[in-house]
Amino acid sequence: MDVMTAIVTRRSEKVLTDPAPSDGEFHYLLRGAATAPDHGRLRPWRWILVRGEARAALDRTVAPSGPRPAGKNARGLPEPPLRALLVFSPLPGHRIPEWEQLAASCSMTHALMMLLHALGYGSIWRTGRLCTSPGLHGLLRMEEGERLLGSLDIGTPPEGPRQRRPLPDVSDRVSVFEAATAARPAHGIREAVSAE
Ligand SMILES: Cc1cc2nc3c(=O)[nH]c(=O)nc-3n(C[C@H](O)[C@H](O)[C@H](O)COP(=O)(O)O)c2cc1C
Repeated sequence: MDVMTAIVTRRSEKVLTDPAPSDGEFHYLLRGAATAPDHGRLRPWRWILVRGEARAALDRTVAPSGPRPAGKNARGLPEPPLRALLVFSPLPGHRIPEWEQLAASCSMTHALMMLLHALGYGSIWRTGRLCTSPGLHGLLRMEEGERLLGSLDIGTPPEGPRQRRPLPDVSDRVSVFEAATAARPAHGIREAVSAE
């Protein structure tokens, strides 16, 4: 699969069943994803893998709900076989600002989703109640300054080819800076210069 095809056929998959990547496979894919742009190569993130009964126990703790069929979520969809929790672990006071560390973490996550997709796995990044649950910080033994960015639910999506999406119109999201613009500073800049 070429890179454009991979990108335009990826979907956030809501229905995910077995198989999911093994721990070893997840590690391998993560080593690839960890080569995503990361200023300072800080890798300011970590993953916590949750499967099976542990996933159900985590759900019961953070988002208690009424009785539901085993293995199904509140909407009656199958629970994913692997839930990978993404913990943001910024290095405090580092010369690389925290927002750049967050950007690196998001780049890594998208790369991981693409690698999963290329192998036929599906995933969806979820935030929701998990991220705001009050007891979660302690339960996951998160350090001070760490933050849960959500979970990546991972498994195998339903059979069938994924359609290529139509490419969105992004023409109003791109502009070109001309040399002539530099010769005519914007009002605010001229004022600032003459005030010096
Ligand atoms: C940071 C982040 C948080 C998200 N949280 C949720 C969520 O809580 N629930 C959900 O159904 N989808 C969530 N999504 C997935 C988006 O809804 C999804 O990417 C969007 O609908 C576009 O679908 P697509 O990925 O198939 O293009 C999240 C995506 C991101 C990047």
